[in-house]
Amino acid sequence: MAFTYTYYGHGTHGLKIGEHKIVIDPYFNNNPSSPVKVEDVEADYILVSHGHNDHVEDVEALAKRTGALVISNNKIEDWFNKKGLEKTLGQMIGGKVSHPFGYLKFTYALHGSDLPDGSNGGMAAGLLITTEDKQRIYFACDTALFGDMRLIGDAGITLAVLPIGDYFTMGPEDALKAVKLIEPKNVVPCHYNTWPQLAQDGEAWAKSVEKETRTKAHVLKGGESLTF
Ligand code: NI
Ligand code: MN
Repeated sequence: MAFTYTYYGHGTHGLKIGEHKIVIDPYFNNNPSSPVKVEDVEADYILVSHGHNDHVEDVEALAKRTGALVISNNKIEDWFNKKGLEKTLGQMIGGKVSHPFGYLKFTYALHGSDLPDGSNGGMAAGLLITTEDKQRIYFACDTALFGDMRLIGDAGITLAVLPIGDYFTMGPEDALKAVKLIEPKNVVPCHYNTWPQLAQDGEAWAKSVEKETRTKAHVLKGGESLTF
């Protein structure tokens, strides 16, 4: 079963797996790299990796309009429940849950997770999705480099989406090391060029990946898609 990945800029992503529409970390309306507004996006599932504003800001608007199931950790789930979102599911790091689109495992991420009002947002996570035909998509989400990325890569990753922006997450050098640990077939860089402190050369990074690894690197502009 083919899947389509869409980069909306910064840390916001779309996936279409069969008929299932998934949005990861919806941040559209104040995201300088997104060509679309939250009003224009459809979703059946919203996955939330951690509590930072640039990952949760448009969750409520998207969930309320579309009726999508919001999947996050339990602390973030509680926070959205208090805001009136009822269709939610809390998952914990290390556990995988079967959903109609495939298995979703929350993975370790080395990052904070405070919510915008200062509430405890639990532990930051990455997301590992395994489709029915065993294609694996790994969103590292906001994280520093960590050696156990090698374990995440062990099963064979079709597509890894990795931050390269530096400042808040891995920068280009560490993200190249991450590619070497994960050994995905394909990689897309994200979480860069959103603001001046995240300025990075995505094309140069992609060249370094293809020179030093066997991974194919795809540099996408906000709104561009790839089908695998
Ligand atoms: Ni963050
Ligand atoms: Mn972020």
